[in-house]
Amino acid sequence: MFDVVVIGGGPAGYVAAIRSSQLGLKTACIEEYTDSDSNPTFGGTCLNVGCIPSKALLDSSHRYHDAANHLKTHGIDIKNVELDLPAMMKRKDDIVKKLTGGIGGLFAANKVTPISGRGKVIAGQKVEVTNSSGDVEIIESKNIIIATGSSPIEIGSAKFDDKNILDSTGALEIDSVPKTLGVIGAGVIGLELGSVWARLGSKVTVIEAMDDFLFMADKEIAKETLKDFKKQGLDIRLGCKLTSSKSLKNSVNVTYETEGKSEEMKFDKLIVAVGRKPNTQDVFSEDSGVSLDERGFINVNEHCQTNAANIWAIGDVVRGPMLAHKGSEEGIMVAERIAGKHAEMNYDLVPSVIYTHPEIAWVGKNEEELKDENIEYKVGKFPFAASGRALAVDQSVGFVKLLSDAKTDTILGVHVFGPSAAEIVQQALISMEFGASSEDLGLTIFSHPTVSEALHE
Ligand code: FAD
Ligand code: NAI
Repeated sequence: MFDVVVIGGGPAGYVAAIRSSQLGLKTACIEEYTDSDSNPTFGGTCLNVGCIPSKALLDSSHRYHDAANHLKTHGIDIKNVELDLPAMMKRKDDIVKKLTGGIGGLFAANKVTPISGRGKVIAGQKVEVTNSSGDVEIIESKNIIIATGSSPIEIGSAKFDDKNILDSTGALEIDSVPKTLGVIGAGVIGLELGSVWARLGSKVTVIEAMDDFLFMADKEIAKETLKDFKKQGLDIRLGCKLTSSKSLKNSVNVTYETEGKSEEMKFDKLIVAVGRKPNTQDVFSEDSGVSLDERGFINVNEHCQTNAANIWAIGDVVRGPMLAHKGSEEGIMVAERIAGKHAEMNYDLVPSVIYTHPEIAWVGKNEEELKDENIEYKVGKFPFAASGRALAVDQSVGFVKLLSDAKTDTILGVHVFGPSAAEIVQQALISMEFGASSEDLGLTIFSHPTVSEALHE
């Protein structure tokens, strides 16, 4: 009998398992994803096919693009910059291997029992595990944490074929740079992976159904970033609804509707990134008692408890943003609650980052949300064009925008488009966790010259 069994070994599940074990609870983590030798491979979407490989390719493609296009102004003239795509892909794969292998080491060090197979919650606080050979084992546990993550949404008008019509996983593994690349969805994946292939030489067209660009971001930031992406060569077409696609031998024909007209385009490859759906199919038996909402997410309260006693759910399978750090923090909160501690999570301060160049990052409320909630606020803005460090490092696009309460001056939101946006927002977030005012940031000494000074200003 275990104290805790976690189903799913992504950033939500493996963190929950390690924290549970550290707190003295006898813990196992079940993962169905295996390597070619049938060993369970932990790390989930994030480490295997998400955050980490995408950031590896974003960095490599940025260096390539910079070397080929932007070094002359620094007085560096490199002739014949050549792309070695297999080497770039190998670097990415090596990083993934190192990190996923590291989790095995962490499990051993923290005494978490790894179990290979597919887990399913059945009645009576039990988990049925089916391994890759079809053998079934029943495990009993005082607590069950479901952390089975999410998968790409497939749409009828562009079904994945793993050849020309790709999901985000396929988009990380294209073996030669497509001359033309279509991307359906100008969301986080569309922008990040569209940027990777554009930097490597593809002519990228992004087809987005909504009229608004980056609807979840501050409107002013979204407007500025759209201008910059267009300058970078991404052809972003808003208000365009994909109606059909046809995968041919080496290309894809796409038809979409815009302003009542039908348009056609042909691409060498098509990436479809229109969101992700929770992995909740066949994860419970009907009599397990766990309830789902109408979109398939597991219903939980603010502490990630489901309606079934001692069954918890965390990460992409529950409400809230589908982000690795949000899932990991939920994992820690649940482990601590099972151990009898009173952990809470501050859902108001989950940061968002889009790792394009420049980066886009934010935390807290944006102007539209504050207006909707009738909160009076003040706006502070500082452009990177006026930052000495940003100019020195040739990254003077964008700005920092800080929103604070009109009466109390408490910081309510920070939105950044520009160099090291993720790190700047993280600094603001720490101050917000301590209830800082914008004056507090103004009175804090920042090193000069840094791009963070924009926050100070
Ligand atoms: P997952 O990581 O999906 O892990 C779930 C695990 O459960 C998987 O390993 C799966 O094999 C296993 N599993 C599923 N069902 C079962 C079962 N029945 N039995 C046993 N095992 C099972 N987020 C960020 O915060 N930052 C980023 O930069 C970022 N970049 C991303 C880039 C891409 C291309 C993608 C696709 C996603 C990205 N994300 C990013 C999102 C992030 O990957 C997810 O939010 C995160 O992985 C969710 O963690 P999770 O543990 O809930 O689920
Ligand atoms: P997304 O929700 O970010 O964006 C999907 C986009 O597709 C939206 O703009 C939507 O309007 C559009 N769309 C939906 N249906 C469409 C259709 N039929 N035709 C054209 N456009 C359509 O989803 P995405 O990019 O797939 O990413 C999934 C999730 O993964 C993100 O929401 C995020 O939670 C996570 N992620 C996080 C990253 C990060 O933190 N840097 C990086 C990558 C993914």
